Amino acid sequence: MGSGSTCPSRFVVPKVQVLQSGTLGLPLASVRNQNVVTLLYHWQMMIEELSEADENAATTLWAEAGLTRAWNDAATDFHRARDGSTSAVLGLRDDGEIVGTVMVGFDGHRGWIYYLAVMPQRQRQGLGRVLMSAAEGWLQAKGATKVQLMVRSENEYALGFYQRIDYEEAPVVVLSRWLDIKR
Ligand SMILES: CC(C)(COP(=O)(O)OP(=O)(O)OC[C@H]1O[C@@H](n2cnc3c(N)ncnc32)[C@H](O)[C@@H]1OP(=O)(O)O)[C@@H](O)C(=O)NCCC(=O)NCCS
Repeated sequence: MGSGSTCPSRFVVPKVQVLQSGTLGLPLASVRNQNVVTLLYHWQMMIEELSEADENAATTLWAEAGLTRAWNDAATDFHRARDGSTSAVLGLRDDGEIVGTVMVGFDGHRGWIYYLAVMPQRQRQGLGRVLMSAAEGWLQAKGATKVQLMVRSENEYALGFYQRIDYEEAPVVVLSRWLDIKR
């Protein structure tokens, strides 16, 4: 999906951005060194809309990050988001490997975010923030003026993250009903 859309389908993530959060433990002064910057340029990571072939890597990551639930078929979720004209799954690739994902969808009113996940061993390196920024950019390009997301109430860790990147708790209650149950 996404071809012909006005949304950015690729975001370059300079490794230097990650290093500032200390990925390799290099002091910031080293980043300013010309040789290191040149080296980092060649190591840049990429956020792009994932393709059908990425299903297994993305759903495996979602399972590792604790996001899958028995009542959601992760593979179906992945393909539906990809197939929609106003939705996508963005993936952060480092040397080809998917180390983070975020699902984005614009419903005509709000931009929604799901399945934000960073590989456990790559967390706390600034990647979640970068993915959220790419998700916001993608949704804004689709026409969204506000981004919303739902966090499971027991996921206090994620709440801490969202608070840190300036997301505010909205005074709303989410109501839901399954539509495939006969009444
Ligand atoms: C939530 C998640 C995506 C965060 O990704 P991450 O790459 O670890 O986050 P970042 O390193 O980009 O953190 C960005 C900022 O938030 C801070 N932060 C991260 N987690 C935090 C937490 N639990 N509490 C407080 N601050 C936190 C970081 O220190 C960083 O602050 P800084 O920029 O001032 O240094 C990641 O922990 C994850 O994949 N969790 C499992 C899946 C999940 O729960 N997803 C959310 C579903 S709603």
